[in-house]
Amino acid sequence: MEKITVRAPATVANVVCGFDCLGFAIKEPFDEITISIIEEQTVKIKHLDNFNLPTEADQNVAGKAVLAMIEKIQSSDHKKPLSPPKNLEHIGFQIEIKKGIKPGSGIGSSAASAVGAVVAANELLGNHFRTNELLEFALAGEELASQGRHADNIAPCLLGGFTLVRSVDPLDIVKLEFPPLFVTVIHPQIEIKTSEARKILPQQIPLKTAVKAWSNLGAFVSALSKGDYELLARSMEDEIIEPVRKGLIPYFDELKKAGLKAGALGGGISGSGPSVFMLSKSQEIAQNVAQEMSGILDKNRIPFKAYVSEIDSEGTKVIPRRKA
Ligand code: HSE
Repeated sequence: MEKITVRAPATVANVVCGFDCLGFAIKEPFDEITISIIEEQTVKIKHLDNFNLPTEADQNVAGKAVLAMIEKIQSSDHKKPLSPPKNLEHIGFQIEIKKGIKPGSGIGSSAASAVGAVVAANELLGNHFRTNELLEFALAGEELASQGRHADNIAPCLLGGFTLVRSVDPLDIVKLEFPPLFVTVIHPQIEIKTSEARKILPQQIPLKTAVKAWSNLGAFVSALSKGDYELLARSMEDEIIEPVRKGLIPYFDELKKAGLKAGALGGGISGSGPSVFMLSKSQEIAQNVAQEMSGILDKNRIPFKAYVSEIDSEGTKVIPRRKA
């Protein structure tokens, strides 16, 4: 039986100054998704972890994303035949999910499962679909989890590096250049559902606040491409989302202060939290940042996980099969 396994990386969305549009991928942690074709017209989900996620395909982000792909193949406006030909009325997919990224962590857990599943299924179908189509299918999965249409996790998860979502309707993704950067992620072991963390956000913001936000985002993107670390540091500022969401994260202010004091360029809430991330110029600084931030949570007896990682520039990739 044909089987494909892919590795889908964790991602940091928003990156402080780009709510719902900016994100990057990190090397660790990651999900592993294996898909095989089965002779039954169904999508089956098997979990190889203990997170108790739904096994009904239409309730599971990976399942939902693959269902969107099947729906597209079967829709009357999809004229391109599968090569080699396959009749999806007689076959289906089995998806095995091994999550390395804890759900509700703020580092793109649902995006990794959704992207991983569509990349693996597409590989089984002879790379039938293009990048933007894969992103559309993954977005269907992501929407199930977050109850919102945002591609700032799925885009870097698929493509790697830093990405900017210029538009979700239609999808228009810009890959950004970036200088060497190291990431510290501190993940307090509590769960925040993105759907809940979106409900508390303001629906309107004063024009002055909006001007600050788009000025910072423009400057951040420019700083990335020029490798201007000082401008990068100055641009990681957010008066819209952080003040509202930081109350959901234990010792957020102290964590951020400790990270900056240890030499990080800047940072804040990763995605919708509870993870907090910091960007640094070197691996050594990122390790020190991890140590100082860990100290805050240790002192207050909050269980957490810490990751120090490079930016992952590959995105989701197929894992070559081991020879028997
Ligand atoms: N931009 C999304 C949010 C990311 O902040 O709600 C969720 O990981």
